[in-house]
Amino acid sequence: MKTIAICVNRRLSGQPSCAARGSEALVQALEMATKMHANIRIIRLPCMGACEVGPNVKVVGGDLYHEVDLAMLPLILEEAGV
Ligand code: FES
Repeated sequence: MKTIAICVNRRLSGQPSCAARGSEALVQALEMATKMHANIRIIRLPCMGACEVGPNVKVVGGDLYHEVDLAMLPLILEEAGV
């Protein structure tokens, strides 16, 4: 099974965070794209320590992607085997 981890943390006081930069929409898109793939798991993480360059998405055992947007999801999904 492949796992795609995405940070959904929202930091207080307007500090940069993955949620503030759109990670919640990315989670929904990833879940839609993988719902027919039982071998792919999407997990939400609280913070990956790279808040300034979020949204951050990690293919576990593979690459870590920064500043992810919807246009980057096909590349990430391809790496995960979708
Ligand atoms: S808020 Fe996503 S890495 Fe910190």
